[in-house]
Amino acid sequence: MSIRTATLNGVATIEIARPEKKNALTVAMYEAMAAALAAAQADPGVRAVLITGQPGIFSSGNDIEDFMSRSAGAGGAIAESPVLGFMRALTGTEKPVVAAVTGAAIGIGTTLLLHCDLVYVSDEARLAMPFVSLGLVPEFASSLILPRLLGNVRAAEKLLLGEPFSAQDAVDAGIANAVLPAGEVVNHARRVAERFNALPPGAVRETKRLLRRASAEEVLKTIGVESELFGQRLRSPEAMEAFQAFFQKRKPDFSKFS
Ligand code: COA
Repeated sequence: MSIRTATLNGVATIEIARPEKKNALTVAMYEAMAAALAAAQADPGVRAVLITGQPGIFSSGNDIEDFMSRSAGAGGAIAESPVLGFMRALTGTEKPVVAAVTGAAIGIGTTLLLHCDLVYVSDEARLAMPFVSLGLVPEFASSLILPRLLGNVRAAEKLLLGEPFSAQDAVDAGIANAVLPAGEVVNHARRVAERFNALPPGAVRETKRLLRRASAEEVLKTIGVESELFGQRLRSPEAMEAFQAFFQKRKPDFSKFS
């Protein structure tokens, strides 16, 4: 199992722990994270959730081998996959979610942060959403939330060009609260999560709901629209070329596509 969970002092920790594959997320890992979020939601002793990774890597995004098998099989659409279950669990949880971005955050490693309540980023972290260069489209409502946070042209840098950005850029964009030294980010995020032990849970729950209320419906709708397209793109020859190039450790060649 590459997701470790533990509940300590009112904080349910979800630790992504697959360092040999740079914390790439498999179907089983999405299922484990969704189950951990549901368990945290149901446990009155849990006042906050902490999502964290490994030193130097938060997550390299969806496992590209998994992408290839979804692309080859009938179940290509996100709508039919545990990815959507995880997205629903994260957007639906009433408990505050704090993220400690311990290192590189790619693809869903970055887009999941848009649905956390408080985000702390290691000074060594780089973030990127290279969906287009994989022949794909944005997911997890990033096509809705990013332009709102950054404006269209800066969102295009991140989503059309897939330009990586620094921890400080994430703070400047309103995606993260603060940059911390790499060795301190997890403890800092944990201390913040523990602060919810001293706050009234009902008021926290209602305030979180209010903070998200205006865009909640649109976010879910966008996730649905993106998922549909994402499933189609997974089966595209462009995506296949990108996935094969990744494993063959070469640059993809998109020159033959129109
Ligand atoms: N899916 C599947 N395997 C992945 C992966 C992913 N998303 N990211 C990394 N890995 C694997 C590599 O294939 C490699 O496996 P191997 O040792 O069997 O060859 C191992 O993890 C180490 O990765 P490597 O690329 O050698 O590490 P690095 O430190 O040079 O680079 C990253 C780290 C995260 C920058 C780089 O791995 C990367 O760009 N990964 C893909 C990110 C991506 O496009 N994700 C999808 C977003 S939608």
